[in-house]
Amino acid sequence: MRIVITTPSGKLGQFVVEQLLKEKVEVAMISRHPEKVKNFVQAGAQLIEGSINNPDVLNQAFKGADTLYWVTPIDLTYNGHTNYNDWMLQTATMGAQLAKENGIQRVVLISVSAPVVEQELRGMFKVLHMIEGIFKEAVYNVTVLRPSQLMEGFLGHIKTIAEFGTINRPQNKQVGMVAARDVQEKAFQALLDLSWKGFCVFDVVGPQDFNITEATQVISQGIGRPIEHVVLTVAQNRECMAKAGIPVPIVECLADLHANVHDSREPWVQPRSIEGTCKTSLLEFSRQVLKPAVEQYLAKLKSASTPLTFSQGATAAATAKVIFGNHSSVIVPKQDRESIRKFYCDILGGKITKEENERDFLRLGENFYIGFLYGDVPDASEFLRTARSVWLEIKSDNVEEMSRKIVESGLVRKLDVPDPHLYFQAPGGQCLRLVGIDEDLSFYEGAFDGPNVAKVKEGAKAGFSVTLPDSAQSTAKVASFKQ
Ligand SMILES: NC(=O)c1ccc[n+]([C@@H]2O[C@H](COP(=O)([O-])OP(=O)(O)OC[C@H]3O[C@@H](n4cnc5c(N)ncnc54)[C@H](OP(=O)(O)O)[C@@H]3O)[C@@H](O)[C@H]2O)c1
Repeated sequence: MRIVITTPSGKLGQFVVEQLLKEKVEVAMISRHPEKVKNFVQAGAQLIEGSINNPDVLNQAFKGADTLYWVTPIDLTYNGHTNYNDWMLQTATMGAQLAKENGIQRVVLISVSAPVVEQELRGMFKVLHMIEGIFKEAVYNVTVLRPSQLMEGFLGHIKTIAEFGTINRPQNKQVGMVAARDVQEKAFQALLDLSWKGFCVFDVVGPQDFNITEATQVISQGIGRPIEHVVLTVAQNRECMAKAGIPVPIVECLADLHANVHDSREPWVQPRSIEGTCKTSLLEFSRQVLKPAVEQYLAKLKSASTPLTFSQGATAAATAKVIFGNHSSVIVPKQDRESIRKFYCDILGGKITKEENERDFLRLGENFYIGFLYGDVPDASEFLRTARSVWLEIKSDNVEEMSRKIVESGLVRKLDVPDPHLYFQAPGGQCLRLVGIDEDLSFYEGAFDGPNVAKVKEGAKAGFSVTLPDSAQSTAKVASFKQ
């Protein structure tokens, strides 16, 4: 049995993959972020890297599979030009069609719970229900799980709960809020259970219905702190989401989703069945999940804000931990965009994770990100070492081969630094050093005086020379710098 899992790092997908691997099922996952699912890969799952709307990625994952777990995700990085609901519809239509073409026999589909009065549904509710029909048409054997509002949504309010004792969000009609772990469990069972056939729909709801004010009271009891529901209007909520950096097309869809529930004339009565009603109560969830999350948040806050007296400074500085993060950004000249992309993607094997009008986000290796901002900034191709620059180090498992590729690309300027490694200036102006992945680099950590130190100092005094790419040799001046 080969099962394809979409959104393996999502609230529902993670558990499903974990459980399937425990059952020794062959799992193929589609994910844009290998670092988020590397434990699953180590445990034997296959990773097909890429977006769920890429047909090549889907075909690769679906090949030879019999079962599919499909979530049409809310993509918080989406900044496309089409309405997000249209994107969801197009993506799921393609997914269903390719599932059919690849001979997938069974689908477990995550949708959303909504009231019986379907005529009142619009936007994302309507789209997710249309997607159910599209999969039914294409694959026939489809189990649809329609979760109600996930209790995990309250994890997004830990900061205001902990700091101000409030949950700030719009009022909702009463719904049977459900814990993700209960939905995960149902998805996992449906994936392994071969006894069902045809089109089966379950509204997956919690044991009791609450609006947000009522839920706030239960949460308050569960975590043992007074909490108040600050009722936001749909417009205020839209503003908060935008301020939190959620892209506009997604904000519009989510705001419309809230408005749909809010504007409904009827009570929002979700269908309940014995099979679809789950056991985790909001009180239990608050005690087991929200309370520790609030305590952890407060502990972090406390350690970060303990006031220092003058004499305490040295000790605190010694214990406070700082590491370099894995995200960087740089402003580069607009005209270098093409050569930057060629170099970082074609030569170094990086991937563009998002492109915008004047910005590319690029991932190098598993988890180092560079944001290139293209601006009207001075051309940086002439070698110039400024006091503000940091030279970065890149690592390769085949230094010889990679050095050759880099130099022969004609895109870089080799720097003749008296050190055994390849130093060069990449398109955009950044200086990099190439080293081996398993190389002993303790010399650069101050471990010993390596054989090159004297030479390096000598070279620095004399000024290092640079070697230009062939194309630039004839015109550019040879630069030098003082260390
Ligand atoms: N949240 C709720 O209250 C609720 C209620 C009812 C139903 N649902 C449904 O449950 C599902 C999951 O919702 P959720 O809130 O739980 O989401 P989530 O856990 O936040 O998961 C979103 C996942 O989608 C992945 N993803 C996003 N865009 C992608 C793309 N273009 N290609 C591949 N993967 C992509 C993300 O992975 P990366 O970003 O790492 O790539 C992430 O793993 C949705 O279908 C939603 O409609 C949610």
